[in-house]
Amino acid sequence: MSILDTENILKSINASLKSKKLYPVGHPATIAPLKKTFEQVTETLQNQKSFALAIVNEALVVEDDLIEDSEQLYPDLLEHMAAMNIDAIIFENGLSEKEVNDAIDIIGGEPLQGDKLQQQIDAMAITHILLKTIPVGKRNVLEIYNDAVGAIVEVMDEIRMGNIPRSEPVNSIVDEMTTTVFEDENAIMGLTMIKNYDNYLFNHSVNVSILCLSLAKAMGLTQKEIHCAGVAGLLHDIGKTGVSEDIIRKPGGLSSEEWEKVKQHPTMGSKIINKMEKMDALIENMVLTHHVKYDHSGYPNTENKVHPLTQIVTISDAYDALTTLRVYQKPQDPVEAVKLMMTLSGRHFDPETLKTFVNMVGLYPVGTMLRLATGESAIVIRGNPDNPPCPVVKVIQNEDGNTLDDPIEIDLREDEQRRIVATINPATANVELSRFFENEAKESES
Ligand SMILES: [Fe+2]
Ligand SMILES: [Fe+2]
Repeated sequence: MSILDTENILKSINASLKSKKLYPVGHPATIAPLKKTFEQVTETLQNQKSFALAIVNEALVVEDDLIEDSEQLYPDLLEHMAAMNIDAIIFENGLSEKEVNDAIDIIGGEPLQGDKLQQQIDAMAITHILLKTIPVGKRNVLEIYNDAVGAIVEVMDEIRMGNIPRSEPVNSIVDEMTTTVFEDENAIMGLTMIKNYDNYLFNHSVNVSILCLSLAKAMGLTQKEIHCAGVAGLLHDIGKTGVSEDIIRKPGGLSSEEWEKVKQHPTMGSKIINKMEKMDALIENMVLTHHVKYDHSGYPNTENKVHPLTQIVTISDAYDALTTLRVYQKPQDPVEAVKLMMTLSGRHFDPETLKTFVNMVGLYPVGTMLRLATGESAIVIRGNPDNPPCPVVKVIQNEDGNTLDDPIEIDLREDEQRRIVATINPATANVELSRFFENEAKESES
């Protein structure tokens, strides 16, 4: 196709987006450029199967040709693509005028990120125009994790000041974590093993959210249910802002009065969620009943039906709490935690959901520290589902206990000498786990 054809198409698309901003829907000034776009693209598609425009290194590229001065010539197009995180628009043979109109409507509308953009495209039944978005995998998992901590800190601060927290930051960070759980599960699951107990409640909230997302995914739930599980995990303990810090951090037993206070946190949390914008009723229910056990013991004594999916939060919450060092509790290593939880199957936990959870974290969960037969220490980087007793590890300390500058990655299926002899309690190992998962995340991107 000639450069003139390309310019004409870009001009029409840009004009369509610009007129959409200036005139109401259906105004003649909006119809003309849309019609032109459709006609020009259709003509081009008579000679080729598809027509693609993309952003490469912040510049507009059409069919492998760099478009000069695109920012001056087509500002609306570039602005909307950036706002939507769209890095390519591909028109395919067979497209209809309606598809062009609908796609321009979406691109020129309110910014939608990730899954929401795709949902909108599906809802409009647009099949001959692909809008490709930049994957969030480009962002480091540790940044995403820290942003999630930031989001829960903001929620708690707002509650403390007597305000209703904003839903938007919560929803968007959960969306981003969801994408990461689908694209880079080992890296983000590894981060849940960092137990920073200075910030127990914040880290715990993020960890539970990640575990909930992973479990919901493993259960094969819908996108909507997965999202609800992630939000409920992040917000499950927000009712604790009403319980004083001294009580939460108190070592040893609580007085019965203090205990009564702690027991109010699910009810208080669900009341706050009820007032937050656009929060699904399922999230409210999950938070209200996350301490109601499978056998209906626990608290609060609620008339409300416990939604079966609440077990996602209950199980993830228990696992993270068990594996975390707290003032009043020595942490269990992940393997011990799983064993303990299995003994409570059918009483505290729904057997089916627990089974899926145990399969998900595996025999040696990602992040578990191991002692090998060679005397070395290693950390689990990912599981081998075909051979659970032999995961892939990084050896981080030699037999003398000296930390290696360059950890060696070993697939234990291929190394008989390095058998696992024990798991190491994270409390006794002075290792900064995040280092290994940051690297892991970078490697899996390349
Ligand atoms: Fe709780
Ligand atoms: Fe909790």
